[in-house]
Amino acid sequence: MTETRANSKKLFIKTYGCQMNVYDSDRMSDALAPHGYETTLDMGQADLILLNTCHIREKASEKVFSELGRLKELQDERRAMGGDMLIGVAGCVAQAEGEEIARRAPVVDMVFGPQAYHRLPDMLARAEAQRHLHPALRKSIVDTDFPEEDKFEHLPAARKEITIKRGLTAFLTVQEGCDKFCSFCVVPYTRGAEVSRPVAQIITEARGLVDAGVKEITLLGQNVNAYHGLGPSGGSTSLGELAYLLAEIDGLERLRYTTSHPRDMDDVLIAAHRDLDILMPYLHLPVQSGSDSMLKAMNRRHTAAEYLEVIARIKAARPDMALSGDFIVGFPGETDADFEATLKIIADVGYASAYSFKYSTRPGTPGANLGDQISEAVKNERLWRLQDLVNAQTTAFHAACVGKTLPVLIERPGRMQGQVGGRSPYLQAVHLEGSPELIGSIHQVEIVGTSTNSLVGRLKEAVAA
Ligand code: 5AD
Ligand code: SF4
Repeated sequence: MTETRANSKKLFIKTYGCQMNVYDSDRMSDALAPHGYETTLDMGQADLILLNTCHIREKASEKVFSELGRLKELQDERRAMGGDMLIGVAGCVAQAEGEEIARRAPVVDMVFGPQAYHRLPDMLARAEAQRHLHPALRKSIVDTDFPEEDKFEHLPAARKEITIKRGLTAFLTVQEGCDKFCSFCVVPYTRGAEVSRPVAQIITEARGLVDAGVKEITLLGQNVNAYHGLGPSGGSTSLGELAYLLAEIDGLERLRYTTSHPRDMDDVLIAAHRDLDILMPYLHLPVQSGSDSMLKAMNRRHTAAEYLEVIARIKAARPDMALSGDFIVGFPGETDADFEATLKIIADVGYASAYSFKYSTRPGTPGANLGDQISEAVKNERLWRLQDLVNAQTTAFHAACVGKTLPVLIERPGRMQGQVGGRSPYLQAVHLEGSPELIGSIHQVEIVGTSTNSLVGRLKEAVAA
């Protein structure tokens, strides 16, 4: 199929959930571009709408069904005007509830899971072939198989022109799926077993991104530090080893990775934090709870003390390391004492930021079969207390940056004329006076103040990077 302006069709993707979905949405639009689909930000213009869904927390599927209800109205309007619009549901809700979505929402033309994205052009061709049929006679195409082949080999690498639009930072998925089976989590079921991409593929994609102007890459994986991809000499390569290899790419200035499991912070990865300037001193390392009995019930496979030991090792290698985490309150059986232990571990670690959630039962996970569910009122109260503590820590972390000089990747014009904005190594937004020529590179910035959720800086002239 050739791409011409005249027959170009419009694609709108609505992305829910994690960064991996953001990456996948970009790959889907890349895969459809050669088939004449151009991405639009206006849903009303779209010939194809894809919902890239997330199943991690509560009400995921209800949200999808209500969005599909709204899309049906749009589709009806379009058909009343003699046009049409195809609808696809992708992502983890599609993986978990494939046939059910097709049954409950016949408006959907395609339902497909994250392992089927490379087959999207083929599914779309089949959906388009049904267009001459009366809508009632069209059949939804469902693909939730976990294929043997490597989907990344079949997906186009990030296209240059799209990358430029994405700016100076980009995601790069290196690992997908998870073998940890935390008892609350759907990921091992929706994303499947842990799979790592070969090193050569990753290096090629990273080089392509850097050639297109990207300065900062965030490596993505559901359990990213369990990465063990096929290495250059045939053996398995760990995430730490991969970081050393990526550090050799000329022009790549910053490297991050997320999300990590405490058990997989091995010595090489920690040494990489000591040795590699491009590896940013900011680590998302969820612990979920500070209580050993909760950690056991959650099947996290480590104790609170072991988590703290890992952090001590990381800080010994990289003293300025800042941490972020995820917490779940109200896991079945969580007592007041368990919750206090969570507050204690937060106080001990001192997070730069953290995400916290009320436990919600995910059908099909071991947690769903546990008794002793915690009431909504208790969950709410615990969440507020936890968030108060974390917010105070975030504020303190920002305040502690005042007076320091930090390298800031200047990414965009600021909100006001004459200002620019960027990110510190610790992912904080930084605003400063400066001309647009600063955009695209790292500058030394003295932090002179804080405002809500961001830092105020002043450009340090003539300071060596
Ligand atoms: N209930 C609440 N939070 C959850 N998370 C994952 N599953 C659940 C669940 N069933 C949270 C965890 C995880 C983050 C991505 O989402 O904290 O680290
Ligand atoms: Fe889910 Fe646990 Fe795997 Fe993270 S490590 S994706 S929480 S099962």
